[in-house]
Amino acid sequence: MTLPTEPVPTPGVVTRIAAGRPVRAVWRNELGGVTFEVTGGEFVKVYPPGAAHLLAAEVPRLRWARRYTPVPEVLAAGPGWLHTARLPGYSAVDPRWADRPDIAARAIGTGLRRLHDALPVADCPFARPSWVPAGAPPADRLVVCHGDACSPNTLLDDEGAFSGHVDLGDLGVADRWADLGIATMSLDWNFPTEGPGGFQELLLDAYGVAADVDRVAYYRRAWDGDEPAAG
Ligand SMILES: Nc1ncnc2c1ncn2[C@@H]1O[C@H](COP(=O)(O)OP(=O)(O)OP(=O)(O)O)[C@@H](O)[C@H]1O
Ligand SMILES: [Mg+2]
Repeated sequence: MTLPTEPVPTPGVVTRIAAGRPVRAVWRNELGGVTFEVTGGEFVKVYPPGAAHLLAAEVPRLRWARRYTPVPEVLAAGPGWLHTARLPGYSAVDPRWADRPDIAARAIGTGLRRLHDALPVADCPFARPSWVPAGAPPADRLVVCHGDACSPNTLLDDEGAFSGHVDLGDLGVADRWADLGIATMSLDWNFPTEGPGGFQELLLDAYGVAADVDRVAYYRRAWDGDEPAAG
């Protein structure tokens, strides 16, 4: 989950898609997947064989969600790779916001509120995110969750306002606290600060909700795999 520090070999599929345009690796995830940016406004995510199913799951979710909210357009996909058009904006963990966690926190909260308000639960063809236990407590509010609401998956515009979401492979119906618990936790990973919970509060303020301490704790345990799958 970082910017690659060492040179990353360019896979054949990326070279083929780039067709002579310059390519650079912009992100490496913890599964060994790498995201490449192709000059001219395109991205290609390439995952190792053991994780290819995660990309296959992302394709229909991006196509469905895009009808309601800003997420990348799928240009093409195949086994272990996903080619999208660039969604304008800069990740909430882009260096330009490194000393402005308040900007990132507000945009992430605003973005999740927009997502939860925009996506119709009744029409959602996707079940709950993979890490959410079937026996989760009764929902505060059932919404279509992003499913991986970590800071890098929210994009901001030049002014620091929410502009879109990426990385929708685990999108599905769940309590809104499945996203809010992880989004607030992820802020601490990406913007470590001395003050307890200050930026988390900004995120929840921008979303428009008061912290639900029990549900936050429950979904963080579930994310860590510490809640039984059947509840
Ligand atoms: N279509 C796009 N438009 C703009 N930025 C993009 C696009 N696709 C990917 N990115 C950028 O690349 C980064 C990595 O993409 P993404 O989050 O989809 O990959 P991932 O490997 O699944 O991430 P994770 O580490 O969360 O598993 C994003 O945080 C975003 O900054
Ligand atoms: Mg991501």
